[in-house]
Amino acid sequence: MCGIFSYFGPKTNIEELITGGLMNLEYRGYDSWGIAYKTAQGIEIEKEIGKISDRVLSNNSQDTGLETNIAIGHSRWATHGGVTQANAHPHFSADKNIVLVHNGIIENFFELKEELKKGGVEFVSETDTEVFAHLISLYLHEGFEEAVKKALAKVHGRFAIVVICKDENKLIAARVGSPLIVGIDKEQNEYFIASDIPAFLKHTKDVMYLDDGQMVTIDQNGAHFYDMESGKRIEKRIVTIDWDLESAEKGDFAHFMIKEITEQKNTLHRAINQDAGLILELAECIKNAYGTFLIGCGTAGKVCMVAEYLFAHVAKRHINVAFGSEFNHYKHFIKDKSLMIAVSQSGETADTLEAIEVAKGKGANIASILNVETSTMARISDFVLPVKAGPEKAVASTKVTTSQIAILTLLAYALADRLEEGEQLLIAAAGQINDMLNPRYERHIKALADKIYHSESMYIIGKDMNYPIALEAAIKLQEVSYIHAEGFAGGELKHGPIALISEGTPVIAIVANDEYKQEILSNAMEIKARGGYIIGVSPENSEIFDYWIKVPDAGNASPIVNIIPIQILAYYLSLLRENNPDMPRNLAKSVTVK
Ligand code: F6R
Repeated sequence: MCGIFSYFGPKTNIEELITGGLMNLEYRGYDSWGIAYKTAQGIEIEKEIGKISDRVLSNNSQDTGLETNIAIGHSRWATHGGVTQANAHPHFSADKNIVLVHNGIIENFFELKEELKKGGVEFVSETDTEVFAHLISLYLHEGFEEAVKKALAKVHGRFAIVVICKDENKLIAARVGSPLIVGIDKEQNEYFIASDIPAFLKHTKDVMYLDDGQMVTIDQNGAHFYDMESGKRIEKRIVTIDWDLESAEKGDFAHFMIKEITEQKNTLHRAINQDAGLILELAECIKNAYGTFLIGCGTAGKVCMVAEYLFAHVAKRHINVAFGSEFNHYKHFIKDKSLMIAVSQSGETADTLEAIEVAKGKGANIASILNVETSTMARISDFVLPVKAGPEKAVASTKVTTSQIAILTLLAYALADRLEEGEQLLIAAAGQINDMLNPRYERHIKALADKIYHSESMYIIGKDMNYPIALEAAIKLQEVSYIHAEGFAGGELKHGPIALISEGTPVIAIVANDEYKQEILSNAMEIKARGGYIIGVSPENSEIFDYWIKVPDAGNASPIVNIIPIQILAYYLSLLRENNPDMPRNLAKSVTVK
């Protein structure tokens, strides 16, 4: 979490430049922000609580008095220390010679802090980051690079840092487990270092990737990469990325969330038009594997659960499913012929990455189904199936979720040697979704939101492959509406949770047109008999429903079509409750900490 954006080059509008870059990283964290830049006199710092997008720019562009401007910026998602101005980044060393921004966690910060305090260092924040600044300054007499290297050798954890020094015209960055990418504009002789590409997409599409255990120094002579342990120089290739700026912007939509929900008209087609060769190749890997382990976190974890049902029904295959954070007990069963398939939007989720590292350590084959093809996960996987949904910026995942399910559906069909049937199923579903996503449909769902937005709790029930969709629906509602929402397997309700139902409690019943239809309708009936207000998400109406949201009858693609109206409902509930659907409280898009 946390967004880092830094600049080295001739541009003078530092305030606007860094603010613009950080605004594109706000999805990574948005509780406070800060900027530091060099001037002829020293280093200036500005930091505030709140969102960088709420910042009012001053009219005067700073005159740093320098030919080359060097600046670092940060948008924070608090881990160590509350949301205060003192804890916001960048952080100075006590002597103000060093200033840095940091993403990630320093695990041994407490010991280091005690050691530094014994040496007389006074801390001004509660962050782990400050330790880094003091350590670098402690070794500065050995030279800037050497000091950063020595400090890096002392800290343990997963992190990324960018550092500036009062007396050096340089930026130094290092990466251990948290993403950092260098953008370069050779003509302008300017460089950007950021946590993600959208931060500098407006300025350049040419990038160089910093890998784990590597540092980069940027000065007038260019960018020099090296191994942080051995100090050995590393040559990097410049890669031109093919993202377009428009897809990373809101356009005419009020929020990214509704833009991305609407984009499902196209994103599913992109997922379906996946290179069939890749799908068949991965299906072959599953056939030959001694155990397949599908892992993901949060929404991606629910996608994996949907796949477990699909693989069972379509291909009669058992796969092991675990959340990244709950993978550890599976490690005993991973062999060198096992296959791990990681599912992730960002490709940077720490818990998923850690599970991959464990499996890799045991010699397993690693495949990943990813939206961000330039991510860490992509780079450490043996095989990548791209989701191709384009940048997803709202914190709540929508379009990537349905594309991931589509890809896993193709995989299940490929495994059953019926790939074409799977493609036809999804093409039909994509067409139905295209018809479904229209203003009238949205209005119908908004009218429901108007009725229930004061509710304290909501429940969602589903069965079979729509049970994980009930769980995913709960995540969507929790994240953006902040209404207490829980998903259950319909049949489980009477074993306890039905006690929660009282007069008027809204309950969404996901009723697919499958062999379980009557069963889930009976569950809905049991809830209605206890006063529940039943919202049916179903191809057909039923007298049990108090409110009906029609969805197409999509067969085995029902998990894809069923989640979309609930995404829309979550969006409108969020607006009615005056929340920001793109940046829900306490959350960040990319969870790079454990
Ligand atoms: C919820 C959501 C999260 C992510 C989870 C994993 O809407 O987006 O639950 O699914 O944090 O993130 P990725 O997919 O980037 O690994």
